[in-house]
Amino acid sequence: MSFAASRNSTVDDSGAGAVRLIGEHPSMVRLRALIERVAATDSTVLISGESGVGKELVARSIHELSARRNRPFVAVNCAAIPQEMLESEMFGHERGAFTGAIAARQGLFVAANGGTIFLDEIGDMPLLLQAKLLRVLEEHQVRPLGTNRTITVDVRVIAATNRDLERAVKERIFREDLYYRLKVVPIVVPPLRQRRSDIPLLVSYFLERLRARFPGRNWTISDDAMVYLWAYDWPGNVRELENLLERLVVLSDRDLIEASQLPDEIRRASVGASETEFNVALGEGGIDLTALVRRIEGRYINEALKRTGGNKQAAAKLLRLKRTTFSAKLRRYGVVDTDSSAENL
Ligand SMILES: Nc1ncnc2c1ncn2[C@@H]1O[C@H](COP(=O)(O)OP(=O)(O)OP(=O)(O)O)[C@@H](O)[C@H]1O
Ligand SMILES: [Mg+2]
Repeated sequence: MSFAASRNSTVDDSGAGAVRLIGEHPSMVRLRALIERVAATDSTVLISGESGVGKELVARSIHELSARRNRPFVAVNCAAIPQEMLESEMFGHERGAFTGAIAARQGLFVAANGGTIFLDEIGDMPLLLQAKLLRVLEEHQVRPLGTNRTITVDVRVIAATNRDLERAVKERIFREDLYYRLKVVPIVVPPLRQRRSDIPLLVSYFLERLRARFPGRNWTISDDAMVYLWAYDWPGNVRELENLLERLVVLSDRDLIEASQLPDEIRRASVGASETEFNVALGEGGIDLTALVRRIEGRYINEALKRTGGNKQAAAKLLRLKRTTFSAKLRRYGVVDTDSSAENL
């Protein structure tokens, strides 16, 4: 293909790539089922979710599972391309269409013909261009800048955003008609902290990929370190976890990753000494110490179970208790000791 991809867009026409969306949490199982369903259609998809949750991976999965898989997947980052360039990037331009247009250029929509275009950070698209995009979605035709010519294109559109588009619509920075046109099939990718039980799976997956990249090394992670990873909230989601693991293995001479190597913000997330300090105020009437201790204990047990998705072993570790001691306390508080893991944790 003659089209040269710029830095802020990629044209991937190499055919089926290795796209794997890891996760066994119920929300991820549902997500994969949804991906399979929409892959069989040409409907427009709007993917939303926090930064690093895997929105682009979802878009690629849809493409790879669709009949378009052997045609290009073109990713356009609407936030990274200067606004005045975005239109010609997307729809192309004629030679001399504007200052600096020394040669005609095929737009990304034409490059994606027969395949899928992924419009990332769609919330950052300028209003004027939103109107033009809406027309393309409705008419399946693009008009390169500086021409009266229209080119018919057959492109599946997948958009993504980590912004609240509904709010952007209310604030009139995003067109309502385009919002509904994009949102034919909405897909929400949940943050990692709402599917903590997938953290160990993702860790094994990323370590395996790192081992493939650095043959001869055999990185593993200690149970203690894993508990910290489990309890942390991951504001940067899967990307943050992936990058952390790479940093840890690159910076360490040993093959075992231990809790002491983890950054402070992750170690602090676990129930540490600083969080357990409280004021002692013993009034005239005294207090019922046993009742108070039980109340504190109960709250920490609850919190530990919540953080570990109901995994007793991990919860016991978080509270620095032996598994047997932890079980005894659970019985005392009337918690049924099964090993079910709660949804959303
Ligand atoms: N479920 C998953 N299984 C395997 N890898 C994943 C998963 N989710 C995300 N990743 C990996 O995490 C990284 C971030 O994912 P991706 O780029 O798709 O996120 P994003 O939601 O588009 O982020 P941003 O909003 O910052 O653009 C990628 O390297 C991706 O391969
Ligand atoms: Mg992305």
